[in-house]
Amino acid sequence: MISITTSDKQLTQQAKELAQHWGFNFSESLQTQDQFFLELTPQHLQLIQSGKHSPGPIYIDFSSGQVAHRRLFGGGKGQTMAKAVGLNKHFDLTILDATAGMGKDAFVFASLGAKVILMERSPISAALLTDALQRASMEDTISDIISRMNFIFGDARKLTTEKQPQIEDEISLDNSIPQLKEEPDVVYLDPMFPHRKKSALVKKEMLAFQSLIGDDKDSDELLSVCLHLAKKRVVVKRPIKAPYLNAQKPSLSMNMKKHRFDIYLKL
Ligand SMILES: C[S@@+](CC[C@H](N)C(=O)[O-])C[C@H]1O[C@@H](n2cnc3c(N)ncnc32)[C@H](O)[C@@H]1O
Repeated sequence: MISITTSDKQLTQQAKELAQHWGFNFSESLQTQDQFFLELTPQHLQLIQSGKHSPGPIYIDFSSGQVAHRRLFGGGKGQTMAKAVGLNKHFDLTILDATAGMGKDAFVFASLGAKVILMERSPISAALLTDALQRASMEDTISDIISRMNFIFGDARKLTTEKQPQIEDEISLDNSIPQLKEEPDVVYLDPMFPHRKKSALVKKEMLAFQSLIGDDKDSDELLSVCLHLAKKRVVVKRPIKAPYLNAQKPSLSMNMKKHRFDIYLKL
C-alpha cells in the first residue's frame, strides 16, 4: 500500500484524513524505503518516485505549464482530438472520460465547452486529480472550466446505463456501483498501453504511472460497456501502431503523429 506523508506539521491532520479517505498509509517521515510515496505540500499533493532515473515530483496543475499552453495554443475546436469527439460541430456535449488519469484530455474537452464526467479507478490518480480540481476551482481564470468537470471514483466497467439514481456527490468515495444520471453523448477512452520500457516516446512520468498502476489489460471489456453507454460515439485514443481495442474495427480513425483516435459511431 502506498504511503502519504508531509514535512509540514500544519498539514499532518489533512494528510491523515487523505490517508483514511483513499486507503493510504500515513507515514510520519519522508525517510521511506518505498519506491513511490505521496507527499502533501502547502502547494499540492504530489507523487514521488525514489531512485536514480525517476522523474521529479508528479502533480497535476491545470493553470500553468503544458496544460495551460494546450488550452491557449492547442488549436481549439480545430484540433484533432476535438474533432474526434465531435466538439467542432456540437457545443453542448456531455463527455464521459472513463479513463481520466491525470485529467489532461478531460480538461481540454471542458475548456472547449463540454460538460465532462471524469472517471478514475486508481486511488493514487484519483487523489492527485481531486486535489488538482479543488485547487483549480479557486483560480479565477479557469474556475468556469473546472465547474464543468465532475469526478467519480470507481471502475467504469461497472457503470450502468440505468438512469434512475442521481449522483448525489460526484466527488464521493462511495465504492458502490457508480451510476450516471444521464447517458453521455460521447465516451472517451485512453487506457494505458503496454509500452516498451526503453521507448524514447514514453515519458518518465508515464512510465512511473505504468509501473505503479499497471497496464489496463481489461480495456477490451471497457469498450463493450462504453458502446452501450454512449448516445453518439465512443472515441478511443491509441498509440499509432496499436491494434484496435477488443480487435473491433472502428467506424473511422483520425491519425496524429504518435496517436490515433478510433471512432465508433452509434447509429
Ligand atoms: C493513460 S491514462 C489516461 C490519461 C488521460 N487521458 C489524461 O489525459 O491524463 C489511463 C488511466 O485510465 C484509468 N483506467 C483504466 N481503466 C479504467 C476503468 N475501467 N475505470 C476507471 N479508470 C480506468 C487508469 O487507472 C489510468 O489512470
